[in-house]
Amino acid sequence: MRITINQIRDMKPKGEKFAMLTAYDYSTAKIVDEAGIPLILVGDSLGMVILGYESTIPVTMEEMLHHTKAVVRGTKRAMVIGDMPFMTYHVSTSDALRNAARFIQEGGAQAIKLEGGVTVAEKVKRIVECGIPVMGHIGLTPQSVNQLGGFKVQGKTPQAAARLLEDARALEEAGAFAIVLETVPTPLATLITRKISIPTIGIGAGAGCDGQIQIINDLLGSFTDFVPRHAKQYARLADIIKSAITEYYNEVKAGSFPTDQQSFTMDESILAELSK
Ligand code: KIV
Repeated sequence: MRITINQIRDMKPKGEKFAMLTAYDYSTAKIVDEAGIPLILVGDSLGMVILGYESTIPVTMEEMLHHTKAVVRGTKRAMVIGDMPFMTYHVSTSDALRNAARFIQEGGAQAIKLEGGVTVAEKVKRIVECGIPVMGHIGLTPQSVNQLGGFKVQGKTPQAAARLLEDARALEEAGAFAIVLETVPTPLATLITRKISIPTIGIGAGAGCDGQIQIINDLLGSFTDFVPRHAKQYARLADIIKSAITEYYNEVKAGSFPTDQQSFTMDESILAELSK
């Protein structure tokens, strides 16, 4: 049985913190699931860390669905959340609904995530009414990076802080089951967490949130373009991968790979017959 939105919601009043991670492929998702992480986001961050785009803006529904299906196949217990790409929920409510449904029906995800607060609340309400759990995402919303003027801390002025609280309340009212707070000052994220009844999930939003999310490639140190301030590298996978590849390369050049252990034998008499 997979983790349900009720189980996640019930953790807040008990003060139980939870961790969430992104995953984009079968093998990684399997490891994340086996490690007991309850929530896995197939984030549109895959555009940057997997596909090499400069931002999340070019990511398409087809790319998201392709990766969502792989993550779902790799997991048994975690709730898999599909991230709605840029402009797949903005134009109309019917568009938003149709694309949200694709994540559930075709992708096999159990929930979707979308960016925005007050401006998307009506769409969130409609998607939830149709039986699809929605996770909100406010603060630094990377799909709006051009409008925000870069990857900057959000909510620092009195107006911006009040707007973020309003966004959080609008999402709660619309029926979202949790909200990601990205790159928000710790005291503001803590205040929002206290003021709403649904769990907040921080990334660069301090320890006062109910849960935390990290991009798996940042956590494992396998994405080497840059390390965001909010990330902690628990491993340096890029170094480990590079050293393993170098060892393989050197062994092939030296003729010491493969050995008999990685090779196969056959009946000598067949060879003898062929050599005649
Ligand atoms: O796309 C993503 O991975 C995200 C997380 C950073 C929350 O939206």
